[in-house]
Amino acid sequence: MAPSQPFSVLPLSAVAGAEVRGFDANAPLSDGDFERIYQAWLDHGVVVFRNQIMTPESHERFSQKFGPLKGHILVQYLLTGHPFTLVLSNKRVNGLPVGLEDAGRYWHSDVSYEDIPPDGSLLYALEIPPAGGDTLFANQYRAYEALPAQLKERLIGLKARHVFNYAKLQAQAGSERQPLTDEQKKQLTGAVHPVVRTHPATQRKALYVNPGFTIAIENLPKPESDALLNELFSYATHESVVYRHTWQPHDAVLWDNRCMMHHATTYDRKYVRHMHRTTIAGSRPY
Ligand code: SIN
Repeated sequence: MAPSQPFSVLPLSAVAGAEVRGFDANAPLSDGDFERIYQAWLDHGVVVFRNQIMTPESHERFSQKFGPLKGHILVQYLLTGHPFTLVLSNKRVNGLPVGLEDAGRYWHSDVSYEDIPPDGSLLYALEIPPAGGDTLFANQYRAYEALPAQLKERLIGLKARHVFNYAKLQAQAGSERQPLTDEQKKQLTGAVHPVVRTHPATQRKALYVNPGFTIAIENLPKPESDALLNELFSYATHESVVYRHTWQPHDAVLWDNRCMMHHATTYDRKYVRHMHRTTIAGSRPY
């Protein structure tokens, strides 16, 4: 039986985020320790483990404790030999980008454009610029709870369409995104999800629309759908629900895509930002 580790769980803000301090993700994990970390993930939405030394193998191994892993539609950016590790990086080897440089520079919940979006993601920082490149997290339970009662009422039964508009991202100035294959284009059919989802583990309601991927509320005329989405986005991204994570090298950050959105921020590209992300498979939102 694995011995227990003497770690503490310290909230990082009143809104979201907790640091698990005094924990080694490479050490054998006891059931009791896993329960505490799992509970911190549910309670705080974002869990920060500082000073971790993770190889791709140990990163995938630790991530798998939270559920089976899934790859990513952008197979071009998966680490060679590691089908569950997505490389987010501006690093170049022999003049060629080794990862996706501009991932997630907009509010989104990971992969919400698929029918079965992931429960969680675990991002590990190998190299970090001296300034910039923070990740913002927005608590979507809080966003939902802040809605006026009439608006909550209006959302009952509403569904929204989510798509991955890769062509638009690729067309942005400075983008180095590689083209999609015909097969990838065929797979990107989009998905329809409830506007408000119930977290299967906490039973709490969270807003589940995001500016990155949600394009329309189903069965509403476009002007009405656009107006409603914009109103919801103003709650979803309000500064009162946001925690900002400033990265240190060797941070591993686990978040819950069912109740958190996130947004990567820019940095001076003369510095390196090199990260590995695993993605924890999920279930159909309801
Ligand atoms: C992402 O997973 O969306 C990217 C997050 C980041 O690079 O900060």
